[in-house]
Amino acid sequence: MRGDITATFRPADRLSAVGVSEILAIGARASALKAAGRDIIILGAGEPDFDTPAHIVAAAARAMQAGETRDTPLPGTPALKAAISRKFRRENGVDYAASEIIACTGARQIIFNALMATQNPGDEVIIPTPYWVTYADIVRLLGGVPVLVPCPGRAGLQAQPRAAARGHHPRTRWLMLNSPSNPSGAAYGADQMRPLLDVLLDAPDIWLMVDDIHEHIVYDGFRPVTAVALEPRLKDRTLTINGVSRAYAMTGWRLGYAGGPEPLIKAMTVIQSQSTSAPSSISQAATVAALDGPQDFLVERAEVFRTRRDLVVGRLDTVPGLSCRTPEGAFYAFAACDGLIAAITPEGTRIEDDRAF
Ligand SMILES: Cc1ncc(COP(=O)(O)O)c(C=O)c1O
Repeated sequence: MRGDITATFRPADRLSAVGVSEILAIGARASALKAAGRDIIILGAGEPDFDTPAHIVAAAARAMQAGETRDTPLPGTPALKAAISRKFRRENGVDYAASEIIACTGARQIIFNALMATQNPGDEVIIPTPYWVTYADIVRLLGGVPVLVPCPGRAGLQAQPRAAARGHHPRTRWLMLNSPSNPSGAAYGADQMRPLLDVLLDAPDIWLMVDDIHEHIVYDGFRPVTAVALEPRLKDRTLTINGVSRAYAMTGWRLGYAGGPEPLIKAMTVIQSQSTSAPSSISQAATVAALDGPQDFLVERAEVFRTRRDLVVGRLDTVPGLSCRTPEGAFYAFAACDGLIAAITPEGTRIEDDRAF
């Protein structure tokens, strides 16, 4: 008789450190309600609803027809690295040589590779909160400890330098900075970022992981800035992460990239060589077209997101007990529900916390 799989399947211990992503769980619950006939708009996961622009799709088709369907150099084709280098110079005012650039299967893999390459069990990573849940989950999955630094609403949901400094322990490896942020939409202009970078200048053992993936989705003239442009002295311990999923509506193409110090990029490349290898050759060709091609639609799309932001934030603010800060960027609305904690629902249940709400 065959063995009972439930008796023999043994998940690795590391899995107990993370659950299924809460965002996926929310999506699954919403989908189930929708399937049961309820009128539901699913707002769990965030991704642009636009199509990938036609010139990017055409470049991918041309690459396939030209036979660019084989494995590529691991950290990315020379053409892609050159396009990424031009992008960093043109848009961010930062110079990264080809040896300081890596392309991965999505920005998520950049983060995974970087932590896998640098974090030992028990090492700590400072994460300003609210944060994209994946940051802490990857840290935990690799045996590390996320140190969550609260960013108060009155401070614009931005990390406060003194609080960040308090999160610094002997085993701290990284500080993560995401601007504009998932899930709050809060973004750091030069004035807000400067004091944080000063804290890092005084803490030479902490490296900085900057996630700029939402930089093109900003509103009301907000000017995003990346850390290395503002403080070049941090360049040799900063990983500047970006990708095409958000700006170019290319979530399914799975292409993220980063610029960083050569030893780190080399170490990340080793990790990648033992997992996914190079990202898709076709997505790499498409990304060259995205980064080198016309950029004017980015502003038009951001304007569409702005009208939605104004609608959603305005409506949330009219709900008694809810309040929503107007985000500077990204496509999230992060409402505070503290006005409803301890309230009693029409069914007579007390709302104990934000999760219950
Ligand atoms: C802040 C942030 N960074 C990175 C990612 C992942 O990007 P990619 O789709 O390139 O893996 C996400 C996706 O939700 C995100 O919210």
